[in-house]
Amino acid sequence: MSAPVILEGSGLTMRFGGLVAMAEVDFTLRKGEILGIIGPNGAGKSTLLNIITGIYVPSSGEVRLSGERLNGQPAHRIVGKGIARTFQSSRLFGDLSVLDNVIIGRHTHMKTGIFDVILRRSKAEAELAEAAAIAEGLLKAVSRGLYEQRHRPAAELPQADRRRLEIARALASEPKVLLLDEPSSGMDDADTDALMDDIRALCAERPELAMMIIEHDMRLVASLPHRVLVLDYGQKLAEGSYEEVRLIPRVQEAYLGRKAAQNAQA
Ligand SMILES: Nc1ncnc2c1ncn2[C@@H]1O[C@H](COP(=O)(O)OP(=O)(O)OP(=O)(O)O)[C@@H](O)[C@H]1O
Ligand SMILES: [Mg+2]
Repeated sequence: MSAPVILEGSGLTMRFGGLVAMAEVDFTLRKGEILGIIGPNGAGKSTLLNIITGIYVPSSGEVRLSGERLNGQPAHRIVGKGIARTFQSSRLFGDLSVLDNVIIGRHTHMKTGIFDVILRRSKAEAELAEAAAIAEGLLKAVSRGLYEQRHRPAAELPQADRRRLEIARALASEPKVLLLDEPSSGMDDADTDALMDDIRALCAERPELAMMIIEHDMRLVASLPHRVLVLDYGQKLAEGSYEEVRLIPRVQEAYLGRKAAQNAQA
């Protein structure tokens, strides 16, 4: 893939007291690329997303979006610059409707403040109506079934649709880069397959959107990402196509466990 690099990290190190959660990790992400991130529990996968999105400030190293240094900037500003994410554990507003959850994701693009709502109600209402129309379009783009449930409280959605809703909400900020932390967690195989189809359709519709997907489900890792980054104990173990990295014995040991590695060699 030779599209321009949109996001890159160099020498990323994250210490928590004596624990080194990430050590000198480099990565690049190109426009339109899907980068898979795999590694055992505690490998530093979520830490990497937290560094990129400004939730953690790395102990050293740099993250750059289209060449501009991001680390050191507050998380809300980083979202405004075009990086959106979902979280490993669901973070929806359960009492609010599906549609309202997506509208909230547009807050970085809305100019209306509380004074406008009180003093210039018609302007605020017009902006809200526009946000609702955009949110409906996003729900349709992510999943027709989700769109049809747009007036239900988010808490009533089945798990798979809640994960989809989080993706729709992240897209509402009009990101250039979308980061997904274990989007298939808690799903069975059929739901995971349906989610993969939805993500594929989304990528086809938005060929410029770059994605990083942390994932444990190997079927998803094998079929969606263009490239895979393998982390282990905060270090980069390997990087390449799934076909390349899955054959590296250290990756098999770290990720699949020694036993599975021996079976794979046999
Ligand atoms: N805020 C924090 N304070 C202290 N230690 C942390 C913090 N965040 C992460 N860690 C530690 O950093 C290491 C990497 O954690 P991280 O959550 O990035 O792993 P992960 O690869 O996402 O794992 P999982 O697959 O379980 O989600 C772990 O040892 C974790 O306990
Ligand atoms: Mg994690």
